[in-house]
Amino acid sequence: MTVTLERADIEYFRLLVARRLGLHFENSRLAHLEDALRHRLEAGGYGDCSRYRQHLLSSQQEMLMLAEHLTVCETYFFRYAEHFRVFTEVVIPDRIRAQREYRKIRILSAGCASGEEAYSMAMLIREMFADLFPTHISIRGIDVNAAMVARALRARYGLWSLRDTPDELRTKYFRGEGRDLALDRAVKSMATFEQRNLAEEDPQFWQHKAFDVIFCRNVIMYFTPEAARSVISRIAQSLVPGGFLFLGHAETLRGISQDFHLRHTHETFYYQRREAHDVHEDLTAGRGNGASQMLSPNRPRSDRARLRPRGRPHAPGKALSGSGRRHSVRPTEADAGKPFQLPASHPGW
Ligand SMILES: C[S@@+](CC[C@H](N)C(=O)[O-])C[C@H]1O[C@@H](n2cnc3c(N)ncnc32)[C@H](O)[C@@H]1O
Repeated sequence: MTVTLERADIEYFRLLVARRLGLHFENSRLAHLEDALRHRLEAGGYGDCSRYRQHLLSSQQEMLMLAEHLTVCETYFFRYAEHFRVFTEVVIPDRIRAQREYRKIRILSAGCASGEEAYSMAMLIREMFADLFPTHISIRGIDVNAAMVARALRARYGLWSLRDTPDELRTKYFRGEGRDLALDRAVKSMATFEQRNLAEEDPQFWQHKAFDVIFCRNVIMYFTPEAARSVISRIAQSLVPGGFLFLGHAETLRGISQDFHLRHTHETFYYQRREAHDVHEDLTAGRGNGASQMLSPNRPRSDRARLRPRGRPHAPGKALSGSGRRHSVRPTEADAGKPFQLPASHPGW
């Protein structure tokens, strides 16, 4: 049975999906939304849209099933090598110093997809900060897509997922199982995963100062500006002052949040949660809007230039081909830089 979807139906679902999942479908991607809707309508035996509308409005479960067909889940181990260098050389040493207060370094991979991001961090902790595990570290992954969370929990990967994994880590932490590579059990046990919708309020989860480090890469680029703003505001509230936030290369906080300093080291950009007194200083110095005087997302330089990794052209978007009007940077998941390499020796902090 082929179900007909009128333009007005698609518009209705476009709004609903934006409101419930945060996902923005610009005109050039409406065909994708339509395919996903048709798939769910046919799977549920709905002859027309109106019954499905009612069902979707009342069933959280159906919204999550639909989300499985709407999300872009591309990821791989050690994606953006520079971020992982910052993670081992800046973030973890900094958080160890701050640990006295919080006791545990709590890491969140928000929009973790099939888990490669969280497990990349776990491998690095195991390699370079073995003493932290298990009592002083926690790594959590969340994603709205249940199929992805199931894959993360399974921790079996194809070669393509390991394309930027240093040979040393590949040999040490993966073993062949049929056509897959199974992640070492000890590394697997370092991360937990759960299905969770970033677009939903959940004060229990997003508690004040609940995390030290949040990776939320290549997620908000698919969101409406309102959804991106509220997700980042939740992240800001749950990061400790001085905690770190990593976004994808094509993503920026410009126009979204003033709660972070933009940091630039290791030929890459990342954010650090402002301390309360930073805001106070800015205000008393007459800088008014609380903007950082360091490399700040609020400074008028072009983010397009700043977020582009040095020496590499800004590749055109793979996942979105739209106009990019939502953000000042054209959405693209373009990857850049050299693959991750383990430092020759322990950096010795
Ligand atoms: C492109 S992947 C990014 C994976 C990883 N962070 C990386 O950069 O390699 C985006 C992920 O965000 C998830 N996502 C999209 N909307 C979400 C939402 N509302 N709540 C939680 N996760 C969401 C998708 O399911 C997908 O797995």
